[in-house]
Amino acid sequence: EKGSYAHFMLKEIYQQPKCIGQTFVGKIANLDAIHIDIPNPMRQLVFVACGTSHHASMVGRYLVEQHAQIQVIPEYASEFIYRTCLLGPSDLVIAVSQSGETADTREALHTAIRAGAKTAGIVNVVGSQIARMAGQGMYLHAGPEIGVASTKAFTCQVTAMILLAAFLSKDPAFRADVIRTLPMVPPAMDQLLHNGHMHATIDRIVDAFKGATNALYLGRGMDYPVALEGALKLKEISYIHAEGYPAGEMKHGPIALVDTHMPVFFVLSRDAVLFPKVLINMEEVRTRGGRIITITDVADPLPTAVERVSEFLIRVPYIAPYTSPLLKVIPLQLISYRIAVAKGLNPDRPRNLAKSVTVE
Ligand code: M6R
Repeated sequence: EKGSYAHFMLKEIYQQPKCIGQTFVGKIANLDAIHIDIPNPMRQLVFVACGTSHHASMVGRYLVEQHAQIQVIPEYASEFIYRTCLLGPSDLVIAVSQSGETADTREALHTAIRAGAKTAGIVNVVGSQIARMAGQGMYLHAGPEIGVASTKAFTCQVTAMILLAAFLSKDPAFRADVIRTLPMVPPAMDQLLHNGHMHATIDRIVDAFKGATNALYLGRGMDYPVALEGALKLKEISYIHAEGYPAGEMKHGPIALVDTHMPVFFVLSRDAVLFPKVLINMEEVRTRGGRIITITDVADPLPTAVERVSEFLIRVPYIAPYTSPLLKVIPLQLISYRIAVAKGLNPDRPRNLAKSVTVE
């Protein structure tokens, strides 16, 4: 039941601190409690997934490549099925799915099994088809997700990706860091969800952009899948055409779209290498009159350049580089929800969409 919340989507957004705790509790006490039989040696790790689950897999790519030095390919399940399958016994294929019933993901997993690859699942619904077919893996323990727009499944999947990276990593310092920092995320997320300043900024963003017909979402590194997820949330429940793009690709085409009406959401990293690069992209948008909304965890004092280019600015808490998608996605979820409601739409029942897509 929705309880005191107007919609399931809102309830599920607010459940996230508790849910991600459910994903990692029991695992951080002992990372080896994650039972995934992996090929030895492992040639590559392939994620097969759709929609939001694909975005979580993209975050997983950065984490596993960086911390476990294993090549990772996040595949759209619907494309993977129809390509030449080059997998074999030294590959691990992980199907990522909230429902565990998505037909494209199920078929991609089937293809991997036929090719003789090792398989696993990162799934929410216990006993679902994909969970049973995969035979091993991790459950999210997020509880039922009713809202068609996936919210808590995304943050629980990203949490599972952090655990997976730690499980696969040979670096004891990273493993210890994950065990130390993950428990810090739920209270930080809870604080953010109840941050009056953020909500006041979101009010202004909703007023400014509820009539928009287009929006761009840009980020680099792990902020890129967060940008994709923000754009997906906006289009599916608010019916505003939104494009997620790697910020560095903007100059290769999308910048032509920027005019004085275009909202451009930047997911801005505090990373020493990425920060200056993204700032340059922000300046490029600002010069063309684009209206910038910045979501960032940059450290204090906030560089004045960020303030200068941002019409709206939301700051989220920082814990570790690898936990940043968990916090940066929160305002993006809330903005999409609030715009849908402001337009008189029901975010729980977006047109043309079903909660789980059981046809190919
Ligand atoms: O149940 P799954 O995770 O396999 O579903 C995959 C997509 O259909 C799903 O994430 C979809 O994109 C959501 N509506 C996104 O909010």
